[in-house]
Amino acid sequence: VSDQGFLERPPAFTYRTSRPTVLSAAASVLHCDRVGLNHLSERYGTPLYVYSASAIRDRVRNFRSAFRQVPHTLCYSVKANPNLHLLKLLAAEGCGFDVVSGGELERVLRASRRSAPRTAFSGVGKTDEEMLLALKARILLFNVESESELWKLAECAGRQRCRAPIALRVNPDVPADTHPYISTGLRQHKFGVPIEQARMLYARAGGIRHLRVAGVSVHIGSQITDVRSFSAAMHRVADLVRELRRDGHEIEFVDAGGGLGISYDSTPHTTDEFRNTIAGYADSILKPLRGLKVHLLLEPGRSIVGSGGVLLTQVLYKKRNGRKTFLVVDAAMNDLMRPSLYNAFHSITPVLRQSRSFEMVDVVGPICESGDFLALNRKLPRMEEGDLLAIFDAGAYGMSLASNYNTRRRPAEVLIEEKSIRLIRRRETISDLLRTETV
Ligand SMILES: Cc1ncc(COP(=O)(O)O)c(C=O)c1O
Repeated sequence: VSDQGFLERPPAFTYRTSRPTVLSAAASVLHCDRVGLNHLSERYGTPLYVYSASAIRDRVRNFRSAFRQVPHTLCYSVKANPNLHLLKLLAAEGCGFDVVSGGELERVLRASRRSAPRTAFSGVGKTDEEMLLALKARILLFNVESESELWKLAECAGRQRCRAPIALRVNPDVPADTHPYISTGLRQHKFGVPIEQARMLYARAGGIRHLRVAGVSVHIGSQITDVRSFSAAMHRVADLVRELRRDGHEIEFVDAGGGLGISYDSTPHTTDEFRNTIAGYADSILKPLRGLKVHLLLEPGRSIVGSGGVLLTQVLYKKRNGRKTFLVVDAAMNDLMRPSLYNAFHSITPVLRQSRSFEMVDVVGPICESGDFLALNRKLPRMEEGDLLAIFDAGAYGMSLASNYNTRRRPAEVLIEEKSIRLIRRRETISDLLRTETV
């Protein structure tokens, strides 16, 4: 915290004093790298997603370094933020991808065709069409989630006259300390096959001509901060790998999924702190796998792009209803759904740092639902109509969950690298929204 109530996410998002111009005096302004967020709002409007290329690259490098002792591929989870330009940036950093739909695979192929052999395909409801697309693209691995899917995949591979490389996604029945909507590794969840049935299913899969057993995969949920859950899951997976090898299967890959949580609260997160977090995470994955000589696949999403993005929004109205003060901003639940969907907390800070008193406010959007909020009962430096706010840690599951609810245009996205600004998605127009409909 740079000053009471004014939050930063160093090194990418910090307050810097901008030079005075003819029109404005010097001011302390929240920047992304070397670019003032006030400047971006003037140029591109709000709401606006702003990402820092260096923050995203740093995270990839942190992962690389934490897992450097073992052969591994970082398969960035496209669902966290599927912007084509970000996928291209991540491919250039050597990442592969984790996709959960044909649409996400199309994005990967569009951003970097060469990444197909480093792409894993998960998801409980893959269609024939999606499987055929992935087979044609020659992806690395299908993470199969049911017996019926095994048969369907074999049939598709037969049509393509090829063998599909598979891992079964096992459900290890391990609880994760996260929101129930994003916990996936318990028996009652729809994901994966029960780990107790895995050997029997691998035996069946091993006998199918158009399938090639290649690995075991697991993913227990998202935004997990207690790494003991990962460790428990990996111990079960490691035991299974030993059994499967004894049964005669060639298990080359262990796909450990994604799920590493980030800190959304108001304390600053330094690069060093993330290095410690990831070292603990790497330990929890690597210790159980020691001696197994597998190629490790990791599917991080949130931990790569989450802290590297903010959502910039402007206060439209300030209103008081009884004792409550509302800041009605131009971003809403359709732009950033996490607070409404998971009751998630996002830190918020004014773009302009100047001495202000504090007040308790609800930060809400213009959508016609009481569930449309970005922050409730939040103590913020006093804001006025026209002021800009930055909502932190919005790089993951922000734009990717955005919708056109209330026929609102989804925000534009910009990527900053030092002084350079690149518009990586323009703001939608109303014509974009109406194009697929008929009158
Ligand atoms: C199969 C799979 N892999 C990876 C991820 C990415 O998770 P996270 O963004 O928490 O790293 C998810 C998201 O829930 C997932 O379902």
